[in-house]
Amino acid sequence: MSTIQLRTPIPGPRSQALMRRRNAAIPQGAFHATPIFIAKAEGAVIEDVDGNHLIDFAGGIGCLNTGHRPPAVVDAIRRQLDRFLHTSFNVLPYESYVTLAERLNAITPGRFAKKTVLFNTGAEAVENAIKIARFYTKRPAVICFEDAFHGRTYMAMSLTSKTHPYKAGFEPFPGDVYRIPFAYCYRCSYSLQYPACEVHCARHLEDTFKRVVAAESVAAVIVEPILGEGGFVTPPAEFYSTLSQICRKHGILLIADEVQTGFARTGANFACERFGLQPDLITMAKSLGGGLPLAAVTGRAEIMDAPGVGQLGGTFAGNPAACEAALAVLDLMEKEDLNARANHLGEVFRKRAAEWQRRWELVGEVRGLGAMQALELVRSRATREPADTETKEVSQFCYEHGLVTITAGSYSNVIRLLMPIVITDAQMDEALGVLEAGLAAVVEKRGAAVQMA
Ligand SMILES: Cc1ncc(COP(=O)(O)O)c(C=O)c1O
Repeated sequence: MSTIQLRTPIPGPRSQALMRRRNAAIPQGAFHATPIFIAKAEGAVIEDVDGNHLIDFAGGIGCLNTGHRPPAVVDAIRRQLDRFLHTSFNVLPYESYVTLAERLNAITPGRFAKKTVLFNTGAEAVENAIKIARFYTKRPAVICFEDAFHGRTYMAMSLTSKTHPYKAGFEPFPGDVYRIPFAYCYRCSYSLQYPACEVHCARHLEDTFKRVVAAESVAAVIVEPILGEGGFVTPPAEFYSTLSQICRKHGILLIADEVQTGFARTGANFACERFGLQPDLITMAKSLGGGLPLAAVTGRAEIMDAPGVGQLGGTFAGNPAACEAALAVLDLMEKEDLNARANHLGEVFRKRAAEWQRRWELVGEVRGLGAMQALELVRSRATREPADTETKEVSQFCYEHGLVTITAGSYSNVIRLLMPIVITDAQMDEALGVLEAGLAAVVEKRGAAVQMA
């Protein structure tokens, strides 16, 4: 029996009525990728307010690697509800925060003494990683990348690349932020080809120190190991070995933003491991809390200890229910070997996607690691013109046929997979069938121009 069951056209009447209320009460800026209001969810399946069952390939934007409401996480939260809900760790500390810090210190890449501080959101973790890096190095500048996304607060927005809708109109941004091209080989900023390029993009950092900002002024380079909102751009491993080498040479800290890539998404606890990268600081959020808001910065102990007493924190940072949820998430990752499962899902997808790429010119590139996979859609293989409208159409086809997907990319032409890693093989197969039908429908609508000869 299929998982997807549609009783009404999508969106159904109840979703439509709620959307009317939403439009009257909530500003348009708080966007949503679908017009579907949810009633409940479990694993990789959601039920909307009209009784339709859909498969979730968005996972709350990558927050549900362990699925909707995993019983062990729900139980851990329930037990905490009967003890206390909030004290602020900055007033009355509790054990779960300490245990979580110990566990993150142990599982994050890098065999050196580490410490961890908790926050609520990814943007807050990024803000604090920059605070810590500047305080430790006593240097002002931060280097970030084209196509990066680090959040919506002011420093995080300054580090983010995409102008619309994230930055335009919100200027001025905090200063001393410098941006260099990422290893986006499909659209190389230097028009070079890997591997002949010898990762020129990473080596170019030395040039940046001569022409843009002095190395001795730079506190940190912040990078997503695989770009998230930027379209799941996956660099060659040498990119990171070169980048680390240059940072080390100049006493610059390397911050890995693992907010979207962490917690088994790429087939490893952290994407850094896939590249042999040992950053000085790591930012985490999203799937850490199993659906509750929780974020962390973990890093070398001497760096983390640089800010003095009272210089880091926040009223709700490290909420006790979220800490208990996170401990259950870490247990599940291990117990259910989610890394192996993520790699399996990646292989299933790649097999299907390779066929789509053979059949349709529209599918320009298939990329990713583990269960962090994406399709970059183009109008022509020769010009690589981004197929943004087509991407929107595929995504709309999907949700209208029972699969929730989200898009990404600076050119809004990437379909990304962020399904719960606990999705069953049958659900995965059914979901990929919908995605395939969506691609086929858009190719057919647009005619032979996007169909391979
Ligand atoms: C890599 C990365 N960093 C930071 C953030 C910001 O996280 P949040 O939305 O929890 O503030 C995101 C969110 O998508 C992200 O993908």
